[in-house]
Amino acid sequence: MIRPFDARFPQLAARLPRRELASLPTALEPAPRLAAALGLPALLVKRDDLSGQPYGGNKVRKLEYLLGDALERGCDTVLTFGAAGSNHALATAIHARQLGLDCHAILSEQVQTPWVADTLRWHLQLGTRLTPAAGYPQMLAAAADIRARHPGGPGRVYEITWGGSSPLGTIGFVAAGFEIAAQLAARGVPGPVRIYMACGTMGSVAGLVLGLYLAGSDARVVAVPILPPERVSAAAIAALCAAASEALQERDASVPACSGLQSRFELRSGFLGAGYAQATPEGIEAMHLAGELAGLKLETTYTAKALACLFADARSGCLDGAVPVFWQTLNSQPKPPGLDAVDTSRLPPGLHRYL
Ligand SMILES: Cc1ncc(COP(=O)(O)O)c(C=O)c1O
Repeated sequence: MIRPFDARFPQLAARLPRRELASLPTALEPAPRLAAALGLPALLVKRDDLSGQPYGGNKVRKLEYLLGDALERGCDTVLTFGAAGSNHALATAIHARQLGLDCHAILSEQVQTPWVADTLRWHLQLGTRLTPAAGYPQMLAAAADIRARHPGGPGRVYEITWGGSSPLGTIGFVAAGFEIAAQLAARGVPGPVRIYMACGTMGSVAGLVLGLYLAGSDARVVAVPILPPERVSAAAIAALCAAASEALQERDASVPACSGLQSRFELRSGFLGAGYAQATPEGIEAMHLAGELAGLKLETTYTAKALACLFADARSGCLDGAVPVFWQTLNSQPKPPGLDAVDTSRLPPGLHRYL
C-alpha cells in the first residue's frame, strides 16, 4: 500500500533513499479499560511496538531511510552510538544484519536496568562488534579508529548518529505524522488530539511535529524528555524540525516551508526523575497499569515516563476535552530463542557488569 507521505510527495519519495523494513501503518487502537481507569472517554495507543520484524519500536521508521542511504552509498558496515542498553543500537544491528550489513556499536555507561543484559546478549547473538567507551570524546575517538581500520576503507562505514536522529532519519517520523493524521481523520476523532511521546535524541518528536504540520493536522505533540535539559530542549527540537524540512526541500522544492512549529509541541520536563534510565514511581505505576489494563509492555527508561505524563494530565483534568494518544515506541516483538545460552565471554570486559 502506498504510504500517505509518499502519496502526497511522490517526487520526493522517489528521491529519498529508503529500504522497506517496517510493517506500516502501525495500528492506532483504543485502550478502553485504561481510559476508564483514568476517567477518560477515550485513549488511543499508536502501536509502534509492532512496527517491524523481528524487532519493532520507533527506530525502525528512521532506519528505513538511514540503512537505505547506507546501501545507496555502497557501504558494507554501519557504525552507531548509544548507551549500553540502547534500543537504537540494537534495532540498528538487527535491521542492518537483515540487509547484509555489518554493525559496530559504541556504547557508553548507563544506570543498570532489567533490560540491559538481554540487549547485550542479543548483540552477541547477532555478532555486533561492541566497543565500550566512557564518554563522548572517547566514543568519537573509537568511531574514528574503527573507520580508519576498516578493511574496505573508511568510506564503506556508514555512521548513524545517536538515536538515528539526523535530518534524514527524522524523515521517518515525518512520514509517521502523515500516517497518524490519516488514521485520526479516518476514525473521525472529534476535536483536539494530544500525542504523548518519550523524547531522547528528539528525532521522533521533531519528525512527528513536522509531519503533522505538513499533513495539515492540528494534533499537538507532548514530548516527555528522558534526558536532562542540556540534552533535550524546545530550541533543539525546533532546529531538528528545520533541518529535516531543509532535507526535504533540497530534494523537492514543492515541499512547503515550515513556520511556527514551536507552538505545535510542548516539552514536559517533570517526568525525568533522577536522570536517564532512572525509574520513577509514577512511571512504574503507569507501566503496571498499562500492562494490566491494555496489555502493553513498557519499560521504565522511556515509555513509562511518557505514559506517566499522560496519566498526570488526565488526573489533573488538563486534557480539557482533548483525546490523548500514547505513542508506544518500545519494541514488543519477543526476544529470539537461545539468548540465555549465548557465550558471554565474548563480551568486552567493560560491559560485563551489566550481565
Ligand atoms: C523505546 C524508546 N522510546 C523513545 C525513544 C526516543 O526517541 P528519540 O531518540 O527519537 O527521541 C527511544 C530512543 O532511544 C526509545 O528507545
